[in-house]
Amino acid sequence: MNILVINGSPKAEKSNTYQLTNAFLNGMKQVAKEVQIRECTVCRMDIKPCLGCFSCWSSTPGTCCIEDDMAQVIQDLLWADITVWSFPLYYFSVPGALKNLIDRQLPMNLPFMEEQEGQIGNGGHPSRYDMSGKRTVVISTCGFYTAEGNYDGVRSLFDHHCGPGNYTAIFCGQGELFRVPELSALTGEYLSCVEQAGREYIDDGISIESRERLSQLLLPRETFEACADASWGIERECAGKERQDRTDAAAEKRESDTLTFTRQMAALYRKENWPGKDIVLEMCYTDVEECYQILLSKDGSRVYTDGSLTAGTRIETPVTVWRSIAAGEIRGDEAMMQGLYHVKGDFSLMLKWNDYFGGSRPQAEQIKDVPSQKNTNMNIMLLPWIVFWVTVSVSKQPGCLLSIAACAFISLIYYQNKKTIYDVLSSALVMGFCVTMLTGMPEKVMLPLSYLAFGVIWLVSCFGGLIPLTAHYSKNSYGGEDALKNALFVKTNRILTALWGILYLITAAVTWFLMQSSVRPLTGLINSVCPVFMGIFTAWFQKWYPARVARGK
Ligand SMILES: Cc1cc2nc3c(=O)[nH]c(=O)nc-3n(C[C@H](O)[C@H](O)[C@H](O)COP(=O)(O)O)c2cc1C
Repeated sequence: MNILVINGSPKAEKSNTYQLTNAFLNGMKQVAKEVQIRECTVCRMDIKPCLGCFSCWSSTPGTCCIEDDMAQVIQDLLWADITVWSFPLYYFSVPGALKNLIDRQLPMNLPFMEEQEGQIGNGGHPSRYDMSGKRTVVISTCGFYTAEGNYDGVRSLFDHHCGPGNYTAIFCGQGELFRVPELSALTGEYLSCVEQAGREYIDDGISIESRERLSQLLLPRETFEACADASWGIERECAGKERQDRTDAAAEKRESDTLTFTRQMAALYRKENWPGKDIVLEMCYTDVEECYQILLSKDGSRVYTDGSLTAGTRIETPVTVWRSIAAGEIRGDEAMMQGLYHVKGDFSLMLKWNDYFGGSRPQAEQIKDVPSQKNTNMNIMLLPWIVFWVTVSVSKQPGCLLSIAACAFISLIYYQNKKTIYDVLSSALVMGFCVTMLTGMPEKVMLPLSYLAFGVIWLVSCFGGLIPLTAHYSKNSYGGEDALKNALFVKTNRILTALWGILYLITAAVTWFLMQSSVRPLTGLINSVCPVFMGIFTAWFQKWYPARVARGK
């Protein structure tokens, strides 16, 4: 299969649109057989404007009188089975150099007037060559927040050129986001949709689902426009002045790159996640000695340059480090653990960072067919043990039967939750202990053993690079699976899991003595007291420890 790419962006390979085109080509290459690709990078080619002399129709039929690279383009167009037109939207049309190339296709037509099947408008010229079976793809990005309503000029051009419905188009708004490394997660998601579309194009054509995904906004309009405006580093009022007096250099008041960067970060704030009270985040860039405050309120975000607010959270960081984190070159948590930046004051903002500055797609427009992640639930793991410990110490046989029933019913009650290995292991062990006891093993031996087994499970999960047990459950409140990649989150949970493990080893020993004593029926209840305090400690430690690391302690 021969594929020709006509890259009409003056930025050549650095073009935003070209990223989409590349993704689409990758998709096609995965499915199509024996693919050969040729590329015409218009800005590097010598393609002069048409002279309008019609010599290609009269004195030299099929051949243009201008000797430049267009002759090769025509050869390539005839060679290609699929032609991919890739270009930015310029003034609601194609860039000028590309328009020259389009005009210079005249030698490919015959001069006669002819009505063509499915033709729009009044007039057409038949093709000089057999173009049947050839396919056309049009890929373009534009600068406004949406492609909708901006491509009527381009559509009209290709409707006339190829016939309506005879080409496949991908038009994407917010094109400039594709060059922002800080947003590569967001744009990468879009590019994978384009790649998928490329695969489908070769098979049966782009599916309705993919089309729908491709028409989604990358960022909500308000966020995108605030971000785009901030990127120029010019205040609106000054830009107005600049227009009136172009010679007044002072009128064009450029703000520092760091302030522009802070404004862009503030623009990504998602006010729908406002926590009920305003937050003041102070960004202190230690290497450039600049400090800005971002007020996060229910109406949006605002950057203050005069330090007039009282900061709730203060981040002290070299701007280079913060930029690298924003660009995804280093993970924020790793940089924090390495002491590359410090956080002072309220740490809860850091824990919910992605909620506030996630830069994600508009909620209602999130990609629809991504399966929703099921949450884990610690109750699934704990309940069999609790029922076992409380009931068996009161009365062995009914206790064992009740515990077995609890293990059986728990899966039904929590059927919507995702199961962990510890959930499965817990039910299996409790059932095992019950069966062993029902066949005659005394509870004064089995109860301490069960606490021992429970403690060992917690402790084992702290070693050998395993994810500590508590992390499997607490991740739900910290961004799901992603939290498991967060070194600070994992370390906090490792400490907590180890402490819980030790607590249960001690409980095993205490149980041994309680089971020999007169308070034996109350063993389960007595053993529940410490975990209550440990639970309170856990809730406090989960917040305190990361904040301590963030302060650089
Ligand atoms: C001269 C010029 C004209 C533009 N006209 C439009 C326009 O009419 N509508 C629009 O949404 N974006 C417009 N843009 C923005 C570009 O389409 C946008 O930045 C695009 O993503 C650039 O793609 P590229 O990197 O592939 O060249 C224009 C940009 C330039 C430089």
